[in-house]
Amino acid sequence: MKTFTTAAISAAFLASNVHAFPKMAMDALTEPLKAEAFNVKRTTEIHARQGAAPPQGAGALPLVPPPFDAKTQYVSNQGKYKFVPPGPGDARGECPGLNALANHNYLPHNGYATIQQFIDATEAGFGMAKDLGGFLGLYGALVDGNLLGWSINGGPHIGIGGSHNNYEADSSPLKSDLNQYGSNQKLIKDQFYSLYNRQPDAATANYNLEVLRDFRKERYYESIHKNPYYSYLPFTGIEVSQAAFTFIYRFMANKSDENPEGVLNKEVLKSFMAIYGDDEENLHWKRGHERFPDNFYKRNPTDEYSIPYFEADILYFAETVPEVLEIGCNHGSVNTFNTIDAATISNGAYTAEQAAQSPLCFASEFAKVEIPLITGLSNSALSPLFNTLNTLTGNMNCASIGSVNQSALTACPGFSFYGGPTGPVAKGAIQDPVLN
Ligand code: HEM
Repeated sequence: MKTFTTAAISAAFLASNVHAFPKMAMDALTEPLKAEAFNVKRTTEIHARQGAAPPQGAGALPLVPPPFDAKTQYVSNQGKYKFVPPGPGDARGECPGLNALANHNYLPHNGYATIQQFIDATEAGFGMAKDLGGFLGLYGALVDGNLLGWSINGGPHIGIGGSHNNYEADSSPLKSDLNQYGSNQKLIKDQFYSLYNRQPDAATANYNLEVLRDFRKERYYESIHKNPYYSYLPFTGIEVSQAAFTFIYRFMANKSDENPEGVLNKEVLKSFMAIYGDDEENLHWKRGHERFPDNFYKRNPTDEYSIPYFEADILYFAETVPEVLEIGCNHGSVNTFNTIDAATISNGAYTAEQAAQSPLCFASEFAKVEIPLITGLSNSALSPLFNTLNTLTGNMNCASIGSVNQSALTACPGFSFYGGPTGPVAKGAIQDPVLN
């Protein structure tokens, strides 16, 4: 397996951003830096700090801290945005970010929203860039909703609660694997404490990308060891399931003048993950009660989390966990994981190395072939999604996949197009206690 140097990743990130950002946005991004260009003291401070312990994790982007502006980055949890827990009939699902947005009225409180509402809310609450919010919102509407909108829970074709293996995936950070626990939405005690205890000192705790990629590795192997139906596929595995980890730091970290990249401490993590209680050894989870903490500052508008940025984070994870770029599945028993060669599943369009070098190409070209099969929709109905995918990957010259070798997936009993929020427990599944 090829490994990736930080320099190569940074170069790839910068190159892709040059294409992705319009000139005005680039100017806005670089203007504050230019103003400081001759401020030697500031430059020295930045280098000293970044060299010592960059808050985002050693070797992770950004190379230079983004600007911080309290006024534009403050996310209110007061007045019309005050926390209102879900009531009967309000959908809350596996995504803590969307649950929090609905609890604070950034999304409709019933948890059902249009594509535009998802784009606006994820940007207003977290600083998700419109390219990423647009893609995620549109994909939800086409694959899991009614073409215009979707539910943040719901069953198949209603929302992401029923999206097993088309959106929702196994080996999530805190949530249960569908066929290991019979639900994709339980919060597993050991999973939570494994993450939580990685930063024992509350005063200095920071769940950054370095911490998260170690945790990601553990979760990947835990699913192999405990979920007979574990499936790890190009789009849901390589792309979505990495997002479930990178989003924890990239969106939940609280930004400040001192740490404009953000620091994610214990209190903020618990608030966004709906974890309550004072007894550190016996914390509780209140399903659907995710909250924006007080004094929360999201990403700077010039530093929103975009698709190229996310792509760079996937490659950052792959530096130490190259497994995340290989697809495969357990064959019906635990510890029977076999990788599926990218060349086999793509009928020769991608070698394993090509897929690993350009996961966005591989995953999106795979999705383009699979989505008509999954949804039964015609290519013309799907053209907005495909146009978006083409815009995103246009400058990368992705090799297209003519057809997916579906028979390569027949070895994976856990493979399905839809499923959840509940489902059968696979024979031989190993379960751990849930957190209530
Ligand atoms: C329209 C935008 C979004 C969509 C479609 C979406 C969808 C999803 C889906 C399908 C999952 C399940 C992934 C898996 O099974 O591993 C998930 C999990 C997750 N999402 Fe979102 N999400 C969105 C926005 C956000 C935002 C803004 C945040 C900000 C914090 C966020 C944070 C997370 C986290 C941390 C998880 C993992 C939960 C766990 O297992 O502990 N998401 N999301």
